[in-house]
Amino acid sequence: MKILAIETSCDETACAVVEDGVKILSNVVASSTTMHEKYGGIVPEVAAREQLRYMLPILTCALKPLNITSNIYEPIKNQIDALAVTVGPGLIGSLLVGIETAKTLALVTGKPITPVNHVLAHMYANFIDSDQENSPRATSRGNIAFPAISLVVSGGHTELYLLQNVKDLKWLGGTLDDAAGEAFDKTARLLGFGNGGGPAVAAAAAKFRMKNQKSKISLPRPLIHDTTLNFSFSGLKTAIWREWKSYPQHAEELINELAHEVQESITDVLITKTLRAAEKYQAKSILISGGVAANLRLREKFKSSINQLANQPINLFVPPAPLCTDNAVYIAAYAYFRGQPTGWHNLTALPDLSVEEV
Ligand code: KG4
Ligand code: ZN
Repeated sequence: MKILAIETSCDETACAVVEDGVKILSNVVASSTTMHEKYGGIVPEVAAREQLRYMLPILTCALKPLNITSNIYEPIKNQIDALAVTVGPGLIGSLLVGIETAKTLALVTGKPITPVNHVLAHMYANFIDSDQENSPRATSRGNIAFPAISLVVSGGHTELYLLQNVKDLKWLGGTLDDAAGEAFDKTARLLGFGNGGGPAVAAAAAKFRMKNQKSKISLPRPLIHDTTLNFSFSGLKTAIWREWKSYPQHAEELINELAHEVQESITDVLITKTLRAAEKYQAKSILISGGVAANLRLREKFKSSINQLANQPINLFVPPAPLCTDNAVYIAAYAYFRGQPTGWHNLTALPDLSVEEV
């Protein structure tokens, strides 16, 4: 079954064609991130305008493997089985661009369409067949044993789920305030990396680690001893700011050390809580996904923590980095494994779509 998926929840415009939920036939992503640089954060109006500019070129590009002859509707009619589109959570203006495009395609071609929750869909990046990189993901989808614990860790969300099978999800806990990605993004701004976000913090932290030094800075690990499966990262932001203010000068070495300590704090908390959930639910697999899952230190620490578990063998699954950040491949995968197709007239943008009632 071939699904054409569209994702426009924030500042990425993405389209993909995926076969049977696992095989990528095309995957195209455009981003307006750099347009927002001078504003110090994403400007919803600018993001929506850029979505409009990118939508049709990205769609056309994603349909290339289908041998387009005259128009885009014929190949969709003849070669695509279903459509999928993100309906929330996200920015209303951005969401509407993808949704209206998908509705038009569904209306003209008569194909069923699946509304997709962007946050839940992230975890289905783990079900995609991919041998592109040397991540800890050593096995294919067939080897994901259940029950599984899934950590979705992105710019706006830090959520833990229990999967009893590929369809049966239960929300276990999430962030009470800032998401882990947000903590990375705010740290990046404080340390002078602008909108560089997590990747900029990770790069600075790597420079500190390369020198094999021990950090003199000690930041809190919020809620690490708390027995719930919730997270909180807003206090960390204040702690970094206080630490930053306590130094009269900010040499590159200090910036790298702070980046390292922030990354250690966030990754320690994410791993401790995920392993706590895995222990509680006797999980056989751990799936991580979302933009922060692209963080190499998180991957490395997750892998070694899991290897140290003596009496509970667990497999770790991590998508290749380009499938962690926003794209339409996992939107198609979600639609294939868990989607509930409907008619185009039932689709509407849901900017505040719940990630807990799943
Ligand atoms: O999933 P995503 O692309 O978009 C959302 O749905 O939010 O996640 C974006 C988040 C941003 O906060 C970004 O800074 C973070 O993922 N991120 C990273 C890395 N790559 C992206 N954080 C830490 N290390 C990275 N390598
Ligand atoms: Zn996302």
